[in-house]
Amino acid sequence: MTMPRILFGGDYNPEQWPEDVWAEDMKLMVEAGVSLVSVGIFAWAQVEPRPGEYDFGWFDRVLDHLADAGIGASLATMTASPPPWLSRLHPEVLPNRADGVTLWPGARQHYCPSSPVYREHAARLVEQLAGRYGSHPALRLWHVGNEYGCHVRACYCDVSAADFRRWLRDRYGDVDALNAAWSTTFWSQRYDDWSEVLPPRTAPTFGNPAQKLDFARFSDDAILACYTLERDILRRHTPDVPLTTNFIGLVHKPIDSFRWAAEQDVVSLDSYPDPYDPRTHVDAGFGYDLVRSARRGQPWLLMEQAPSAVNWRERNAPKPPGVMRLWSWQAVAQGADAVLFFQWRQAAGGAEKFHSAMLPHTGEHTRTHREVRELGAEIAAAAELAGTRVQADVALLHDWPNWWAVEGDAHPAPLDLLAAHRAHYGPVFDAHVTCDVVPPDADLAGYRLVIVPNLYLLSTATADALRAHVHRGGILLVSYFTGVVDETERLHPGGAPGPLRDLLGLRVEEFWPLPVDGTIGLNLGGRHGRGLEWSEWVEPAGAQVMGTFTDGELTGRPAVLRHSYGEGAAWYLATRPDPALMRAVLDQVRAEAGVAPVLPDLPDGVQAVRRHGGYRSYLFLLNHGGTPATVALPAPAVDLLGEQDAPTDLVTLPPRGVAVLRS
Ligand code: GLA
Repeated sequence: MTMPRILFGGDYNPEQWPEDVWAEDMKLMVEAGVSLVSVGIFAWAQVEPRPGEYDFGWFDRVLDHLADAGIGASLATMTASPPPWLSRLHPEVLPNRADGVTLWPGARQHYCPSSPVYREHAARLVEQLAGRYGSHPALRLWHVGNEYGCHVRACYCDVSAADFRRWLRDRYGDVDALNAAWSTTFWSQRYDDWSEVLPPRTAPTFGNPAQKLDFARFSDDAILACYTLERDILRRHTPDVPLTTNFIGLVHKPIDSFRWAAEQDVVSLDSYPDPYDPRTHVDAGFGYDLVRSARRGQPWLLMEQAPSAVNWRERNAPKPPGVMRLWSWQAVAQGADAVLFFQWRQAAGGAEKFHSAMLPHTGEHTRTHREVRELGAEIAAAAELAGTRVQADVALLHDWPNWWAVEGDAHPAPLDLLAAHRAHYGPVFDAHVTCDVVPPDADLAGYRLVIVPNLYLLSTATADALRAHVHRGGILLVSYFTGVVDETERLHPGGAPGPLRDLLGLRVEEFWPLPVDGTIGLNLGGRHGRGLEWSEWVEPAGAQVMGTFTDGELTGRPAVLRHSYGEGAAWYLATRPDPALMRAVLDQVRAEAGVAPVLPDLPDGVQAVRRHGGYRSYLFLLNHGGTPATVALPAPAVDLLGEQDAPTDLVTLPPRGVAVLRS
């Protein structure tokens, strides 16, 4: 799906306001350059006040107003928060936690994803919406559900238990196969009959890891089934209207976005960087690179971000002047074709009344609203960017089933996969290198360097793909605790890195996790630093030792290894080098892969990304640092956001400054 321009707007909840406010909304939206709003997300109780009795009149008028104002609707299916009557009539739709506690109505998302009753009522509403609004002139996009899996990541109730058993039967066929896959000879867990199988509810001690992993897979499937149910209804009514559902940024553990992306026409993401965190834009960037990669570079939609403060962190900082603009352009630089916010008009009541909005409750003559208008005008003037694409030579591999498995309990030490990703992605970002974040089944052919942090769960298919990448001349960097188990949480025979032993030219004999806050000395070819989190007793089997541990029991043993294989080379890190040393390792590996930064000699803190389309190319420069930065361009270019029409070959960016240079 290609957008004619970069879309601008946000969530619009007119049901929270009397109708006489709507006309003012339309006027101010037009003045602010709004081109798309997400409507109806939480309107179920208003459009279906009693089961099967609909009140669509007010919503008709909302959509008519939007159409008259020339504003598109990202029309929600309204199923994210069922009305109170649903659980009054059918209490079994309410979800249960692992400890048996029921999650009651009073907030939102209080439904069991496996519930046939919820699904039936949701489907009935979506049929109504699709039939009624499928040809409405305001309709641009279907917004299915909202942030699936945000609050209820899994449900452990009896309805879910039955659905889990059905799912397991489909997967394994018979109980013997299930017993084998779940290693149930351990601790007398053997099942004699399907009726004995349950979700991994709160138990006396560590639960069965294979059961937990399958339950995570099942829960993702159960939630996805809610989405595809609605999606299929919409496709039947309106095959030409694109549809999406908004993912939670930077990346959300229960929802395998790679699988979900294939079920949508365009991927969208909600992103809430924390203004208190000086590295928050790097984390956000990881999420943007992931959603872009989820549909192989297709432009994506920034579906929500806060105009200023959120209300749901412990402490909620406003975005200082210029930050909203900077972070919005960052999303566009990294491939977004929409800059949308939560939400248009600040709520006067309810749990989000302290969340910022494009139109604060203090009105239009406010700092935030002025910045919104300025940004809206800039975005409108940059329409030519729509549809252009980002390209990357580097890929970082992320896998949801691995995420579910690697953070399991009763491991040598707790591991945080996102922290591992940050440690690898950050130095690449800081080096001004563009990186995709890809699933294990991605086509790796276009990448020079593939980075694989902590891929504990490794299938032979993924191992084969990594081997092929190196064999044909690619460079690979793998870090510790990789290739430990297969898809059923059984150890790979012979130990880690399992099916990658030949490629990496080494064998991990023992895991030596470091104590809490402990570090270990590292010597990388004369450069000294510390290893964090983890260490391993590695026996090289063909790999060359590039760095060693310099402390404690592992003194002198290999910490960083490199193995030539086919036309390429595979590197291994048996610890997590401290940030400075990690940067040095990654710079070295990147140099070997022949991956250059977007521009040479870029100042620290300046992010540089290119988008390409046909003969056009755009260079985005974003100053995330606190001091002005000057960038010399390889050739004169025009800044789409600048006041001058004349090309320049020297760009000076104030702190939070942005330039979009056409070449
Ligand atoms: C999420 C939801 C929105 C709103 C915002 C607040 O992204 O989708 O409905 O609650 O958070 O930040």
